[in-house]
Amino acid sequence: MSQKNVAILISGGGSNMVSLLESMAGDHPARPCLVLSNNADAGGLAKAAAAGVATAVVDHRPFHGDREAFEAELVKPIIKAGADIVCLAGFMRVLTAGFVSQFEGRMLNIHPSLLPKYKGLHTHARALEAGDTEHGCTVHEVTPLLDDGPLLGQARVLVKPGDTPDGLAARVLEQEHKLYPAVLRRFAAGDKTPVVLG
Ligand code: GRF
Repeated sequence: MSQKNVAILISGGGSNMVSLLESMAGDHPARPCLVLSNNADAGGLAKAAAAGVATAVVDHRPFHGDREAFEAELVKPIIKAGADIVCLAGFMRVLTAGFVSQFEGRMLNIHPSLLPKYKGLHTHARALEAGDTEHGCTVHEVTPLLDDGPLLGQARVLVKPGDTPDGLAARVLEQEHKLYPAVLRRFAAGDKTPVVLG
C-alpha cells in the first residue's frame, strides 16, 4: 500500500498534532504533508515548522461567519498538499456538511469524552458534574453531525475524588497523545478496527 499523506488541522497549541507528527516515522504507513490552522497565532504552527512540516493559515475571521466562504479557502492548501487523510486535532471551527463530504471516510477527529457522551464543549466539567467514575477520549470519523461519526478508538481515564476539570483534562490529554497516533497508524493501513486503551 502506498504511503498516505496526512494534513492536520489545529487551532491552538497542537499537542495532539505533535504526537501525530512524532508517530509518523519508520514503517508507519503515513507521513505528514501539512499543518493548517485557522489561527495565525496557534502555537502548534511553530512546532510543525520546527519539525520540518509545511504549514498554512486560513484565518476564519475575515469571513464574518460565512462558513462556506471560509471553507472554500480552507480546502485549498489541503488539496494542494495532496492530503489523503485529514486529522482534526484541537481544531475549533465547526465544519459544514459540504466541507465534510469532500473528505467522507478519510477525516478523523479527537474529542475529549467517551462519545456518544458529552458531545460539544466543556466535557470534563460535565463528566464531573454528572459524577461519572470514568471519562476519556474518542477518535472518530468525521461526518456532518458534530462529534457523531463511527468510533475508531477510545481511551478511558478513571475519575479521582477531588478531580478538577483541568486536572482531569490533563490526564485525558495524556491518553489522547497515545490514542490518536495508534488510531492513525491503523486507519492509514486501511484497518478500521477500533483501538481501545485503558
Ligand atoms: C484537546 O483536549 C483535544 O481533545 C481537543 O482540543 C484540545 C487541545 O488539543 N480536540 P491540542 O493540545 O491543541 O492538540
